[in-house]
Amino acid sequence: MRAGEPAAPRGVGAVVVAAGQGHRFGASRPKQFVDLCGIPVLAWSVRTLVNHPDVDRVVVVLSPQRAASPPPWLPNGVLVVSGGVFRADSVRAGAAALGGQVETVLVHDGARPFMSAELISRVVAGARNGPAVPVIAVEDTVKRVDEGGWIEATVPRERLRRVQTPQGFPAEVLNRTHALDDAGAWEAQDAAAMTDDALLCERLGIDVSTVEGDPANLKITTASDLALARAMVESGLIALGS
Ligand code: C5P
Repeated sequence: MRAGEPAAPRGVGAVVVAAGQGHRFGASRPKQFVDLCGIPVLAWSVRTLVNHPDVDRVVVVLSPQRAASPPPWLPNGVLVVSGGVFRADSVRAGAAALGGQVETVLVHDGARPFMSAELISRVVAGARNGPAVPVIAVEDTVKRVDEGGWIEATVPRERLRRVQTPQGFPAEVLNRTHALDDAGAWEAQDAAAMTDDALLCERLGIDVSTVEGDPANLKITTASDLALARAMVESGLIALGS
């Protein structure tokens, strides 16, 4: 570095998005705030990130009402910001809060409590060279159906993957893709379909690598997902902070 040049950002920041309403879950409060064996669903992954040696900053994105009065169980040092209407808006708000101070950004859905420390390490390592997402193979036979539910075709599954979070990005890439999103580069109807951040990279032709995901890293969408998550903890398969 030459004298007078600003230091390049280093380190890893994590954005945990938890500003959704969770309508599919069907409870009085969003799924990320429901109790999971003693602590709220969201607290599991936030604690794992805060305790991870590679992670320097953690931003949690909440709905404007909750961000105005953040839950007391969030660990000290976690920054809380307000999210937006769509998931991509919430990611953008969280990434902005990192303020260009990190080199790598992990984006994680607060609805996935069982992200392990090992998974974080794999994604951080993968994201040093470009966007990296954790994936797992598809074991079921996959069919495509028409609007009436009639089977159209069997989709070969060998190259299909189910995608998880955290997804890792060089901060510059994430900010660039979301800045385009902000500028209205995507069709309005796309916003709801942006269920992950790698999608923005794919649209721009930016290569995204994959790392091995974790079958235990389930996403809580319905009440039966929560029942399964509780059973995983109660059976000892998952330990707090693992
Ligand atoms: O709705 P879905 O389960 O796909 O949302 C994935 C994650 O994105 C959840 O953790 C949810 O809270 C978050 N989200 C958000 N802001 C939104 C919509 C979803 O932070 N506007």
